[in-house]
Amino acid sequence: MTHPKQPLPDEQANSADQTPDALDGSTRREFIATATVGSALLLEACRHTSPAAEGADRLTVPSEMEISLQVNGQPQMLKVDPRTSLLDALRERMGLTGTKKGCDHGQCGACTVLVDGRRELSCLSLAVMQQGTKIQTVEGLADGDTLHPLQQSFIEQDALQCGYCTPGQIMSAAGLLSEPCGASDADVREAMSGNLCRCSAYPNIIAAIQQVRRLPKQ
Ligand code: FES
Ligand code: FES
Repeated sequence: MTHPKQPLPDEQANSADQTPDALDGSTRREFIATATVGSALLLEACRHTSPAAEGADRLTVPSEMEISLQVNGQPQMLKVDPRTSLLDALRERMGLTGTKKGCDHGQCGACTVLVDGRRELSCLSLAVMQQGTKIQTVEGLADGDTLHPLQQSFIEQDALQCGYCTPGQIMSAAGLLSEPCGASDADVREAMSGNLCRCSAYPNIIAAIQQVRRLPKQ
């Protein structure tokens, strides 16, 4: 059995592994053990004396928060878990199921809504972050019984098959209308590349968007 104070065979064989204290009979193992214990004691002391650490001990995350959102021009008061995504708040708390959940990971664009007029992936945004913004979903796009020009053009251009991606495509296109974008189909395809369509209705989707972009400005 090796005595703890005795150098290990590999320590004897390789003098490069020895610390300067080796001349006093201490081994590298003892040096490391002492340093580790010292660090642990220092950390423990900091934990008990640092104001930041004391503050961190007192931090609690609420299980629910009361928030106010403005969705399609209507105020909405909700109590939500602070981790609730805007997508889940819209679909499961407000019943606005037009906004679709595809991947829930920011990869498909099915959940696109407008926030202050800019397109945003609602699955990647927390509901609590959107207080004070104006959120628009596909339910708020039509003007009463009059469809938004994009909704009308998607019908006329037959720009959907199963329709699952369509609300996200239309909301993304609605955001695109106020963005700088080249005139060509390729420019629109690039600008819409974050919105996937499993049915590959892409040519008709581009045609529908271009139809609206060519309308005389109101
Ligand atoms: S559900 Fe949000 S990007 Fe796919
Ligand atoms: S129309 Fe089916 S996913 Fe786009």
